[in-house]
Amino acid sequence: MAEIPKTQSWIGELPGTLRMIDQTRLPGDFVEIDCETVQQVWDAIKRLSVRGAPAIGVSAAYGTVIGLQNETSLSRADFDLKLNEVTDHLADSRPTAVNLFWALDRMKNVAGGMTDATPAEVVERLLVEARAIENEDREMCAAIGRFGAELMPDKGGVLTHCNAGGLATAGDGTALSVLFAAVAAGKKIHVFADETRPLLQGARLTSWECQQRDVPVTVICDSMAALVMREKKVQAVVTGADRIAANGDAANKVGTYSVAVLAKAHGIPFYVAAPSSTFDMSLASGDLIPIEERARDEISHGFGKQTVPDGVDVWNPAFDVTPAELIAGIITERGVITPVNAKSVAAMIEPTSGT
Ligand code: MRU
Repeated sequence: MAEIPKTQSWIGELPGTLRMIDQTRLPGDFVEIDCETVQQVWDAIKRLSVRGAPAIGVSAAYGTVIGLQNETSLSRADFDLKLNEVTDHLADSRPTAVNLFWALDRMKNVAGGMTDATPAEVVERLLVEARAIENEDREMCAAIGRFGAELMPDKGGVLTHCNAGGLATAGDGTALSVLFAAVAAGKKIHVFADETRPLLQGARLTSWECQQRDVPVTVICDSMAALVMREKKVQAVVTGADRIAANGDAANKVGTYSVAVLAKAHGIPFYVAAPSSTFDMSLASGDLIPIEERARDEISHGFGKQTVPDGVDVWNPAFDVTPAELIAGIITERGVITPVNAKSVAAMIEPTSGT
């Protein structure tokens, strides 16, 4: 197995830089980029150089440090204003993945609790917090893998949509961590990766990760999922999530909802794998989850080729919401939520949500 490169890492101490794999270039080119300004971090999140809910959270945490590390000569009052400016800007990059806002809140709470500290002391502490967010995410991925592997068939196909792998987290991923852990436990799993229109995270990234780890994978067009299920090539579906409401409704990459409906129709369990940081207990249902709408040209000129005539209307929501009743279980780092409803979600998440 090839050495698995880190999705993002902090280089140096203070001042430092955030190095990340430019995921827009995969699988053709393996290129890393260094972010030295908060605008570079914002751009990287916006154009999906770094993507996937937990990875966006980690980037935002380090991005906060980047935005403040050269501001230590400010008065504490001006430094606090700068902190708000930096976190507000990062929060404006993408609206759906709640991990972004969760990580920024954690950073703000840390600074807010250090009322007597100098800006330099706050920045040092913020770097410690960003590293903690990254390390905790790695541990959450491992725990999700352990809980989820038990739900996977001993032998068979598992469908996934988009990329919820190591590239989307600080560890082995969420949905893919489940599959990697199942394979490591000796299960004979064959991954079916939906290509995931329009930006092909499944075809470009999930298959790349499986290949790196010698896990058998077949890429299919999104429109083939029904056929793959009817032909009994898959026995389970596992996806990630970008935000899960208090009743268990789960937002994930657009197309996930269709896959869940298809799984229900074919009697195949549909699982969501996500850390507690992906739950938004302030939202009663998935109807309230903000859905990002992206640029027309991702559909009309995907990967450089015109595929829609000029002047024709295009709609490009990046996510959809799968209702809780279609989800057989949500695999978290704390255990599996099943059945999925407001009561079972609260029992698993509520005690320490908002940490
Ligand atoms: O637009 P993207 O590529 O950021 O969308 C990513 C997804 O939908 C993932 O499935 C989700 O963030 C979970 S990643 C562990």
